[in-house]
Amino acid sequence: MLKDMELKIFNSKQEVAEQFSEYLKSLISQNDKLTVALSGGSTPKVVFDYLAEHYQQLDWSGVHLFWGDERCVPPTHEESNYKMTVDHLLSKIDIPEQNIHRIKGENAPKQEAKDYGSQLKDVLNHSDNIPSFDLVILGMGSDGHTASIFPHEIELWDSDEYCEVAVHPDSGQKRITITGQVINNAREVAFLVTGSDKKEKVAEIIGKEEISKSYPASLVLPTSGKLAWFMDQAAADGLEGK
Ligand code: 6PG
Repeated sequence: MLKDMELKIFNSKQEVAEQFSEYLKSLISQNDKLTVALSGGSTPKVVFDYLAEHYQQLDWSGVHLFWGDERCVPPTHEESNYKMTVDHLLSKIDIPEQNIHRIKGENAPKQEAKDYGSQLKDVLNHSDNIPSFDLVILGMGSDGHTASIFPHEIELWDSDEYCEVAVHPDSGQKRITITGQVINNAREVAFLVTGSDKKEKVAEIIGKEEISKSYPASLVLPTSGKLAWFMDQAAADGLEGK
C-alpha cells in the first residue's frame, strides 16, 4: 500500500520490474477483487515478463485487467497494447477470460471510446460518482505525455467523458485513452518510467517547474494522494539535488 507521493528509484529496469511486481503482488493478496488499468508502450514488457516468470502461481482470479489506453489497431497488430500484454503476460498466467476488459482498437474510435467509458461506469466501483480503479499504471513519453494524452491535446485531460479519442502527434495514429478524472480518481496510481530519455521531463515534473504544466503527466495527482514513481536511475538522473 502506497504512502502519499513516493519516488521509488532502482538501479536498473530489471530491478524496477522486480520491485513493481512485489508491490502488485501485495495489492493482489490484500484485495479479493482488484481492478487495474495497465499501461502500454515498451516499459511494461519487462514487468510482465517478470510477473509471468515469478508469479504464475499467484491467484489472479480476483484481478480485473483494463487498459489506460490503446492504439486503434486490431488485437493481433504489432502495435496493439493488448497483444503486447498477451504475449508477455496473459498467455502465461491463469486469469479468467471474463476478467480481461480490453479496449477494442479495431472498432470505430469514437464509438469505442463511448463503449469503454460505459464499461468503466458499469464494472468499476465509484467514488464521488466517478469510476475508480484500485490501481492505474501509467508510463510517460519523453514529451511528457501519459496514457494517450499528448501535450498538443492536453485539454483531453479535463474531458467530461471517461474515455476519449486521441491522435499521436507524429504518426497521426488514433488512440483511445482514459481521461484525467478517471486517472486521478484511482485509489492508487503508479508510474513506470525508465530510461535517460525521460530524465528531463521527470525532473521538471517532480521539481514542479513552470514548463511542466504543459505536460499531461504533470496533471497526475490522485485525490487519494497515493502516487508512486517507479523509476530506474537513468530516468531519475535529473533529480539530483531537487
Ligand atoms: C502507449 C502508452 C504510453 C506509454 C509511453 C511510454 O500506448 O504508448 O500507454 O503512454 O506508456 O509512451 O512508452 P515507453 O514505455 O515505450 O517509453
